[in-house]
Amino acid sequence: MVKFLDLKKQYLSIKGEINNAINSVIEDTAFVGGKYVKLFEEAFAEYVGVNHCIGVANGTDALEIAIESLRLPKGSEIIVPANSFIATSEAVTRAGHKVRFCDNNEYYTLDIEDLRKQISKDTSAIIAVHLYGQPCMMDEILSIAAEYKLKVIEDAAQAHGAKYKNKRVGTFGDVACFSFYPGKNLGAYGDGGAIVTYNDEIAFRCRMISNHGSKEKYLHEFEGRNSRLDAIQASILFAKLPHLEKWNHIRNEAAYYYNTTLSNITGIETPKIMNDVFHVFHLFVLRLQNRDNLAKYLKENDIDTGIHYPISLPKLNAYSYINQETHYMNAVKWDSLLLSLPMGDHLTNADCDEVVDSIKRYFEK
Ligand SMILES: Cc1ncc(COP(=O)(O)O)c(C=O)c1O
Repeated sequence: MVKFLDLKKQYLSIKGEINNAINSVIEDTAFVGGKYVKLFEEAFAEYVGVNHCIGVANGTDALEIAIESLRLPKGSEIIVPANSFIATSEAVTRAGHKVRFCDNNEYYTLDIEDLRKQISKDTSAIIAVHLYGQPCMMDEILSIAAEYKLKVIEDAAQAHGAKYKNKRVGTFGDVACFSFYPGKNLGAYGDGGAIVTYNDEIAFRCRMISNHGSKEKYLHEFEGRNSRLDAIQASILFAKLPHLEKWNHIRNEAAYYYNTTLSNITGIETPKIMNDVFHVFHLFVLRLQNRDNLAKYLKENDIDTGIHYPISLPKLNAYSYINQETHYMNAVKWDSLLLSLPMGDHLTNADCDEVVDSIKRYFEK
């Protein structure tokens, strides 16, 4: 049996630390805000390499608040990749802007050529999603953003700890967003998210927006919202953070093994890894014809798989109102080919062998 992800196994490996973390918050009755949230925010900012981290309720809120903090022209267009989780584009609309889709390239990140094509006089920002754990081509994106005076928001929900040219993702854009949904590389035991930035003003605004537009209790400068990182989640994340590097390396090694053993099977496209990046493999995604048949075969052999994502964003009913030519996009054509293999720090060498052997047997049938 190979699980897609095994959060129970991870919990058991750090049970004492997690239970202590939760107990401390309860003992101190420091449930909202306070020292546990501050401790995690400071540790995560240092880990990423920025000077501000604002804990929020989830990754979707992080994106929405980050966009709002940039004070972009109302109704302006924000470019998002056509293959991502809906939160990326949803946040754009919810923050009062228009979604403009851009194709994903062979690395599943923003396609630079298509990105240039999607820019218009109405464009105000680009959301660079480090999809599946691989950093976007940040040099190219930042130079296009400088050329057209666009803001860059990093969606690093799937890429905690990933590096581009030896710098962690989250340090490149004007602002960056993380999700701590339980299944993420750094996951809470419920919802959680964070916004990180170097920029003092953006950090200040994000903090205010996420806390009812107030810096001090009952002194509301404007109408914000309630989107704060829960203290129990913060203390769990603080306990888990020192383990993240080790867990990311396990993912990276499992991915390397899958890649080297599966890449010579005709009919499978294994993930391509850019030079000079540390890919943290939140997901290991294959592309193949008739992927449902392989998924079914693996299920019969007790191996879980997933699909990320089965319907590309432009094809979702939620976006039927958008009038944009997207049929030519790889992201739109590939959604029926994608298949995610088990990936996480739970994987042993024997698990990886089992997955690879089963896939080989399927292709030899
Ligand atoms: C790329 C991407 N962006 C944003 C989000 C939203 O995060 P959350 O689920 O914490 O709201 C996710 C999480 O699923 C994601 O994968």
